[in-house]
Amino acid sequence: MENIVPVVDAAIKKSGLSLKDIDGIAFTQAPGLIGALLVGGQFAKSLALSLNKPLIAVHHMQAHVLANLLQEPAPAFPFLCLTVSGGHTQIVLCSSPTSMKVIGETIDDAAGEAFDKTAKLLGLPYPGGPLIDKYAQLGEAIYKFPEPKIDNLNFSFSGLKTSILYFLNNAGTANVYKEELIVDTKVRKQFIDENLNNICASVQERIISILINKLKKAVLQTGITNVCVAGGVSANSDLRKALTETGIALGWKTFIPAFEYCTDNAAMIAISGYYQYLANDFSPINIAPTASSSF
Ligand code: KG4
Ligand code: ZN
Repeated sequence: MENIVPVVDAAIKKSGLSLKDIDGIAFTQAPGLIGALLVGGQFAKSLALSLNKPLIAVHHMQAHVLANLLQEPAPAFPFLCLTVSGGHTQIVLCSSPTSMKVIGETIDDAAGEAFDKTAKLLGLPYPGGPLIDKYAQLGEAIYKFPEPKIDNLNFSFSGLKTSILYFLNNAGTANVYKEELIVDTKVRKQFIDENLNNICASVQERIISILINKLKKAVLQTGITNVCVAGGVSANSDLRKALTETGIALGWKTFIPAFEYCTDNAAMIAISGYYQYLANDFSPINIAPTASSSF
């Protein structure tokens, strides 16, 4: 609440425009943390009313997908997008800027959650994804965590989280599937301290192989070879590398947004608002933000 007015003022100033140059007011309607959505939504409605401009409600996850259109070359339609964030893991088939279908998604934890929960087990602060990425660059993926067996295009990360927990509780001495043989907390901590880089590299390698293997499956099933990534986890350096390398090996055209357009950002909301404006997709002033929403 304290920041919304200064942030909008700064953005307008930086853009070199004035409020009267703006054709519509786009805002994130869902999904997300309800407090943040309420502040943004209320401010957008007030601005739209006072300027007499149309209000445009944007879907947070669709906006992540459209972040791929912010830079040149942009992917041609149709394209597939692996959207990986703190709350979502989806494969989206995008036919146009306003037509998208989720063809695969997580049945439990999101990929970002797998990073963040692993970081917590390792005693690292939130959000843990960027830290695991950093330490992974210094280590080797010598520990082999299991890949979940799921036939369709859906994902599951909760089993991986459990196997990492057991692995750490056994200080890496026992089979990762087994719960027993719990070591004392001092031994556990020492094991983590001495092997942090290799543990991070191993966890990261497995999360990425789960994501890339499902993408390969989605390309085979749909015949679509324009492949994008989006969402906070697409800032991960090894995921970016793996997608580029897989694309070269399999003849895909791959698209990876710049770092600043991977994590939550306002530009992706603006470009979604732009396409919805062109499609006359406006919202009534009484529209309410919602914390969870599929599409
Ligand atoms: O899309 P996002 O900014 O926020 C939403 O969840 O909507 O994504 C945040 C997630 C967090 O789970 C964070 O740990 C993860 O993205 N993340 C990363 C990296 N940077 C951010 N995960 C792995 N490697 C990274 N470099
Ligand atoms: Zn997000």
